[in-house]
Amino acid sequence: MRRTDPIARLAAAQAERAQAALLRRLRSVEAVDGTGLVIGGRRLTGFASNDYLGLAAHPELIEALASAARQWGVGAGAAHLLGGHREVHAALEADLAQWTGRERALLFSTGYLANLGALQALLQPGDLCVQDKLNHACLLDGARLSGATLRRYRHGDVAAAERQLGSDPAAAALLATDGVFSMDGDVAPLPALAAACRTHGAVLMVDDAHGIGVLGPQGAGSLAEAGIGQDHAPVLMATLGKALGVGGAFVAGPAALIDGLVQFARPHVYTTAPPPALAAATRVAVRLAREEGWRRERLAGHVAHFRDGAARRALTLADSRTPIQPVIVGASDAALTAAQALEAAGFFVPAIRPPTVPAGTARLRVTLTAAHTADEIERLLDALQAVLR
Ligand SMILES: Cc1ncc(COP(=O)(O)O)c(C=O)c1O
Repeated sequence: MRRTDPIARLAAAQAERAQAALLRRLRSVEAVDGTGLVIGGRRLTGFASNDYLGLAAHPELIEALASAARQWGVGAGAAHLLGGHREVHAALEADLAQWTGRERALLFSTGYLANLGALQALLQPGDLCVQDKLNHACLLDGARLSGATLRRYRHGDVAAAERQLGSDPAAAALLATDGVFSMDGDVAPLPALAAACRTHGAVLMVDDAHGIGVLGPQGAGSLAEAGIGQDHAPVLMATLGKALGVGGAFVAGPAALIDGLVQFARPHVYTTAPPPALAAATRVAVRLAREEGWRRERLAGHVAHFRDGAARRALTLADSRTPIQPVIVGASDAALTAAQALEAAGFFVPAIRPPTVPAGTARLRVTLTAAHTADEIERLLDALQAVLR
């Protein structure tokens, strides 16, 4: 009997994707300048970045990064537990805990790893992990890695989540949800989910990758906006590569959680600590995100402008009040064609297709940032109207 060649199988799967207009294409950006980017020698206005507050190229972040690299070197050189954890990492963790109103915080190299680490450390086979169907892939992967029983409820359906929590009352249970859904932009029904967790004795975990910096007082996130503290949402994860403009992630919560993650979260233990200079730049980003409320105000103005302009042009948007403003197209080939037409008109808005989003809901995921201008938004609206007519 001949064995299957895994590489040949991958190639066959890729051919199938191409056939279904689902092939992903890796493209290199040649230059960036504010909201502009150069791809294939052409300058496009980008509406795909998660740099919501426009901090990624802020001179103070760049200076903090450069001066910390001079002080600490570029790489951490070792895992956190083996000498890679520098004072600047600890200082950033303290800043993040204070900002989010949590007792402690722990850094991870990426959001993907933070979710894998937290779920794999907290859950075991026989436990119950209840998740929204539209949660980010890394929350699902974390649950799978833990070996817990994974149940997924219809998007935003708190009653369904309650039924699933009640399905095994004896099992240790954790409910995980995106705070702001990454491909839809809507905010999870956090107060109702927190109440359901209280009723069923389950732990609430919120992935606030797209809420941190954007929602709540001083940008402290979707839980802060909803007034839900550590007692009712003990596991808060958020990323540092979106509104904070840097990269990496953290988990925040009670000391017992953080101490446990230091021991048992394998993606924290068995990996090199993120470069200390990134932590230094992130400290500046956190300060600016907290202090410069005008960035959130400007962003909110852009969201209102985009939604009003879309309504005036009879463009249908998803129900979102955040900077993620998807235009649902439906078929994958139609979304791809629309993205190509937008690119021809000078805009970079990639098509998001299955399996990232459910079949039949391919979309143009428009994201707005504080760095955009009203004129850029107006021109995008005109282009969308022309392309989707
Ligand atoms: C909701 C959500 N969680 C986690 C992640 C992963 O974060 P990172 O890019 O830092 O790995 C992302 C996006 O990247 C996300 O949208």
